[in-house]
Amino acid sequence: MATLIQFAYVVSAALFILGLKNLGSPATARKGNLISASGMLLAIVVALLDQGIVEYQFIILGILVGGVIGAAVARLVAMTAMPEMVALFNGFGGLASLLVGWAAITPLAGTITLVTVVLSVLIGGLTFTGSLIAYGKLSEVIDGKPVMFKGQQIVNSLIVLSILGSAVMFCLEPSNSQWLYLVIGLALVFGVMAVIPIGGADMPVVISLLNSYSGLAACAAGFAINNNILIVAGSLVGASGIILTQIMCKAMNRSLGNVLFSGFGSVTDDTTEVEGEVKPISVDDAYYVLEAASNVAIVPGYGMAVAQAQHVVKELQELLEQNGCEVNYGIHPVAGRMPGHMNVLLAEADVSYDQLLEMDDINPRMENVDVCIVIGANDVVNPAARESESSPIYGMPVINVDHARTVFVLKRSMASGFAGIENPLFYKENTRMLFGDAKESIGGLIREFE
Ligand code: TAP
Repeated sequence: MATLIQFAYVVSAALFILGLKNLGSPATARKGNLISASGMLLAIVVALLDQGIVEYQFIILGILVGGVIGAAVARLVAMTAMPEMVALFNGFGGLASLLVGWAAITPLAGTITLVTVVLSVLIGGLTFTGSLIAYGKLSEVIDGKPVMFKGQQIVNSLIVLSILGSAVMFCLEPSNSQWLYLVIGLALVFGVMAVIPIGGADMPVVISLLNSYSGLAACAAGFAINNNILIVAGSLVGASGIILTQIMCKAMNRSLGNVLFSGFGSVTDDTTEVEGEVKPISVDDAYYVLEAASNVAIVPGYGMAVAQAQHVVKELQELLEQNGCEVNYGIHPVAGRMPGHMNVLLAEADVSYDQLLEMDDINPRMENVDVCIVIGANDVVNPAARESESSPIYGMPVINVDHARTVFVLKRSMASGFAGIENPLFYKENTRMLFGDAKESIGGLIREFE
């Protein structure tokens, strides 16, 4: 029986890895999700058999309640609120590891087990409260501005030292649960303290990092209860979360240290000077320009998600193609509010993956583009990142939409994007602003074509 159980765990682990591999491309992501979920189902069933549980009524109740909440939330949550949802998932994952670690303490527990218990409650606890703060900042339940105060680093250092002290004391004196309670309490406080100085704009990176932490906490809990599949699953989450975090930091040309400790967004130190004037364009006039274009690039951003314009964008693409025009999409790695945000939306509208070009592929082609249509993107197309050394985003790689012959920017107002900074693109000679909700503006263009 024991061999069979371990074999089933190996099969689950293989399914997780296969699932992750499939998640790497939008074309196979759905399949990847299903494969990983099957691996998890197998792991759960086998773990229940493995642990010699005699009463299942609470487990079944838990599965039912959790399943109903999960299904309802997944159906109800708007696509734009997905990052907040992931933050909550991570937070509760952390809390689960905290509870599993805590429950693993027995009078016979050896030092290694005690250390893994400490790690799972510590990482799980800070992941829980850190994720709740990240959720609050992203959903604007709490102010997204970095919270910084004098002596913050000293307070944080004292918390870390106290955590270390209590953890050592707990391992030396496991019968005294006060030390463990202290570790748990301090970990919960530290989660809050670690995330409050980070601005709302950086929350997607923080969420990805906390995702990695939730994996590490699960891994530690796996060691604490001696469950191999929990160790494997936790390590996979930990590693993929940290890789994603790195990808995001690179796409913003910032180090992880800068994201975590710089308080980006606390001061508006943007002294970018803009020249030129804003030139609005009507839907009619925009149509005439598009009708004559033979090469169009579409660059979507967060505004496309807000307007839910992906389906009308696809319709416009088809009309342009029927008119003999080549159409491609330029996808910035941090466009929107979560990794792959634009890919997911465009996949939902059945846009072919071949037409989605990454930033490094579309940029060299931009000079041959007749019209670049920027749909609700702002920071990721801001030329100040190239041109203005005083800009807070100077050095961040952006899509060079201003290199196209004509640029149409679809947005509702002159408001700034997530980074809260000026965008000289709107004032460039070849830029025309098509003001209004992106879905309505594109709907207008479609009517003109038809
Ligand atoms: P943003 O710079 O946030 O700009 C979005 C624009 O969409 C706004 O200027 C807004 O202007 C417009 N908009 C909103 N609703 C609209 C609607 N209904 N119709 C038309 N336009 C609408 O978006 P972006 O260019 O995608 O950049 C993403 C930002 O998030 C970057 O700063 C990036 O660093 C940050 N970030 C992203 C990630 C990930 S993983 N994606 C991670 C960390 C940070 P109006 O209000 O005038 O309409």
